[in-house]
Amino acid sequence: MATAEVGDDVFGDDPTVNALQEYAAELLGKEAGLFVPTGSMGNQVALGALARPGDEVVCEAGAHFLHYEGGSVAAHLGLMMRPLEGEAGVITSDQVASVVRTGTEHNPHTAVVAMENTHNAAGGRIFPIDEARAVSKVARDRGVSLHMDGARLFNAQAATGTAASEWASCVDTLTFCFSKGLGAPVGSMVVGPSDVLSESHRLRKRLGGGMRQAGVIAAAARVALETGPERLHEDHSNARRLAEALAAMNPSAVDLGAVDTNMVYADVGVFGTTGAQVSAALRREGILTLGSEGPVMRLVTHRDVSSDEIETAVSALQKVLI
Ligand SMILES: Cc1ncc(COP(=O)(O)O)c(C=O)c1O
Repeated sequence: MATAEVGDDVFGDDPTVNALQEYAAELLGKEAGLFVPTGSMGNQVALGALARPGDEVVCEAGAHFLHYEGGSVAAHLGLMMRPLEGEAGVITSDQVASVVRTGTEHNPHTAVVAMENTHNAAGGRIFPIDEARAVSKVARDRGVSLHMDGARLFNAQAATGTAASEWASCVDTLTFCFSKGLGAPVGSMVVGPSDVLSESHRLRKRLGGGMRQAGVIAAAARVALETGPERLHEDHSNARRLAEALAAMNPSAVDLGAVDTNMVYADVGVFGTTGAQVSAALRREGILTLGSEGPVMRLVTHRDVSSDEIETAVSALQKVLI
């Protein structure tokens, strides 16, 4: 980061950002890339480039941009959401086929079908590549664009061996984050066709996401993308260890079959407590988790948590829960 060659990315002349965008686009088999500060902005500039105000976006009912991005898709883009109840975060081609509408003066026009991979609210679940292909075909046959919120796409790659570019080939635009398991401090990328991304570029500026000497953070993102994917399997085995330890404390506390990648959603209600209480107790032990006011808590593994530290976390969970 300290030695990154920089320019002014608002004018498109930061060489480190440009090289990162080209590298990411090539890796994912797309024409172009656009570096953005966050995954939330990536989703907005992609969806905003594919749809017009009043259009409809078909998504899974627990989609991140529907629940956790401050209502940005409505507030900034004027898009309607058409949530479909999925299974483990996955919507099917049959579901999509049954809701796509072309838009008359009565109906909104279905402009985009969005998939999330891995699905955060479902617990880091993978969108199976065969279903992604089927959804893609149904949408494309009907002239509907596709977006993938692939914030943790490389976790899906690491867990399945399917190249990230295979999922990318199912959609027009795809967002992924450098700042999650890949380990960079900040930054996300949108990839897609050049003409779509030039509209995304305009939207990024409108949203205040044009960053000047952004090469400083693009340099860290480059390291994350070059070295992050190959070690994500470590996070997955750490998550499994946590899940198995919780299941050993109470088999109803966690669904082991739902731990696909680097997340564990635990039901701590079975220990007679709430997620928030357990999170607060773990924080006192130096362990950061996300606990709801209800029975659910989320534990996420990443590059800064070693397998030794997972053992520390297991001991702390035992102390707090039993
Ligand atoms: C699936 C998914 N999409 C998008 C985002 C948004 O990323 P950011 O926090 O960088 O805006 C997140 C963040 O957790 C996420 O899990």
